[in-house]
Amino acid sequence: MKGVKIHDKDFVEYISSEKIQKRIGEVGRKIQEDMGDDNPLFLGILNGCFRFSSDLLSHIDASCEINFLKVSSYSGTETSGKVSELIGLSTSIENRHVVILEDIVDTGNTLDFLIEKLSAENPASIKVATLLFKPEPYLGKHKLDYVGFEIPNLFVVGYGLDYDGYGRNLNDIYQIKLS
Ligand code: IMP
Repeated sequence: MKGVKIHDKDFVEYISSEKIQKRIGEVGRKIQEDMGDDNPLFLGILNGCFRFSSDLLSHIDASCEINFLKVSSYSGTETSGKVSELIGLSTSIENRHVVILEDIVDTGNTLDFLIEKLSAENPASIKVATLLFKPEPYLGKHKLDYVGFEIPNLFVVGYGLDYDGYGRNLNDIYQIKLS
């Protein structure tokens, strides 16, 4: 079993790069099938979504756009429960079919905040695609339209996800090692 140490914590491999890629292919094809000729506007939520967005869009060959937004709300291994501001919404989303791309949905605070902000701009629809979803801590109001993997309530890193800034470069996803 592969392992990595980041700062003070040990992590063990949880989802291999092969499994991630296979699942993203399935999710991408499903999105494409559902969106048809809608000309979707993907909104990737930085920083965590950079790898997921890139790999997901490689499976979409219909007309679409992508922009990136930032919401800063998280540091360390526990969510602060506080979400600050939305940065980077520079194009109009009015009457557009928006698909939010998230790396992970945990409590759902970030997503609730995002959907509230984006809804005020009158998009035609808002859908959510997340690579990872932790159903246990989720308190959000919104349904998730596309989920790569449902995972237990444990801290994970890799494939875009970080622990205090590190680990985003890892190709596999690692779970915190419980002692
Ligand atoms: P939420 O608002 O609680 O749903 O948290 C969303 C954000 O918290 C994600 O976009 C991540 O940046 C971060 N996050 C939540 N869980 C984890 C994790 O297990 N590893 C790394 N980041 C996480």
